[in-house]
Amino acid sequence: MSKKNSQKFIKRLSNEVGDFTVSLDLDIRLYEYDIKGSKVHAEMLAMQNIITQQDKNLIVEGLDQILLEIQSDSFPWDYTLEDIHMNVESRLHEKIGPVAGKLHTARSRNDQISLDTRMFVKDACTEINDLIKELQETIVDLAQKSTNIIMPGYTHLQRAQPVLLAHHFLAYYEMLKRDIQKFTYVFEEADNMPLGSAALAGTPHPINRDFVAEQLNFSKITSNSIDAVSDRDFILSFLFASSVFITHISRFSEELILWSSSEFNFIQMSNDFTTGSSIMPQKRNPDFAEISRGKSGRTIGNLVSLFTILKGLPLAYNRDLQEDKNGLFDSYDTVTSVLKIFNMMLKDIKLNAENLTSAANESLSLATDIADYLVEKGLDFRESYSIASSISDHSLSTGKSISNFTMNDYKTFSALFQEDVLEINIQTSVDSRTSYGGTATKNVLSQINLARQQLNEKQ
Ligand code: ARG
Repeated sequence: MSKKNSQKFIKRLSNEVGDFTVSLDLDIRLYEYDIKGSKVHAEMLAMQNIITQQDKNLIVEGLDQILLEIQSDSFPWDYTLEDIHMNVESRLHEKIGPVAGKLHTARSRNDQISLDTRMFVKDACTEINDLIKELQETIVDLAQKSTNIIMPGYTHLQRAQPVLLAHHFLAYYEMLKRDIQKFTYVFEEADNMPLGSAALAGTPHPINRDFVAEQLNFSKITSNSIDAVSDRDFILSFLFASSVFITHISRFSEELILWSSSEFNFIQMSNDFTTGSSIMPQKRNPDFAEISRGKSGRTIGNLVSLFTILKGLPLAYNRDLQEDKNGLFDSYDTVTSVLKIFNMMLKDIKLNAENLTSAANESLSLATDIADYLVEKGLDFRESYSIASSISDHSLSTGKSISNFTMNDYKTFSALFQEDVLEINIQTSVDSRTSYGGTATKNVLSQINLARQQLNEKQ
């Protein structure tokens, strides 16, 4: 190999080596947190007389200029400098000279990245919870519009019992309520200020960690420096909360997809949220709902990925940890974009009330009501069940719906049937389910009120 070629090889190799370790592409997103954290750190160092006020002023001014440069796209990013921390620090050197070196006193990139990421996760949780509340509002609006619409409730995707469409929608309100609880918990978990842990052992300098925490809106400071620099549980929790949320959205999407098919024809989605087929002109594909359902794959994948990264790591900081950001940012981007699109899509759906109601009427969904009726007349439930089941079989084989049964039809099955059995219909069935949490109209109306109250409280 000629000298020239070998140098070329070494150069390429060193580029590849550099590319392999660089994380700037991802952690560039943390620049605001990084600079904010550095400014407060410098303030604290000056307050504790670790650096002079004059040096602190230079550092803070320099950091402010850097922030402006980044915001105005004039910052000279240097990809040979690994990450956001090194880029900011090196630019500070260019601007204010050797004083820049004092900023890193009592600090390491290990506690710095933990700080930046925790600040990101806290803001992400707040933003996501606000978006979830907006989606909940849409769901409650839909529920309000559908308190008069009865549909067949399903188990095993078989028509089971009549329920209010509003009750069905509110099931998703509940799921989202739990999602808000989860993201609130993640916020609290991330709300633990790690700066001052330094590389892993703490620092001999007389720092004031409480001041830094207070300035950066953290309610607690971490208690063990080794744990603080190696802990990524708050990201795991974020990815878990994201995965549960996206699973809820995926289930909801699946229903919208089924319901908009000709087989169900319960709802319609407008052209804004469907696409045509390039070959079949009649088609309206529910792509937005499908993509929302499909986004669960990457989101759950991000959770599994971080578990896998963490499971074999010895304490304390290991470079593997920088692989946490890809999944974190991806899940954040996915969850926030799904929340926005899904909300718009839901606002746009049209309910086919007649089809929903006739599906409930046509089905055998009153069979349980017949069994419950016989129980009220004194028969034990098993016996009642068996009579109701014969009635269902009869209805199936003759094609006569239970709601069209005459008194004579009923009498052939049991002498206990009286005229009042003819009053059983999907509306009485729904309204008889008055147990707390059941589908009776009055229950559902009070759940809607409760939901409105909860949404107002949370503003
Ligand atoms: N880019 C690194 C990360 O994301 C920052 C910390 C680097 N620390 C180190 N000792 N090399 O985790």
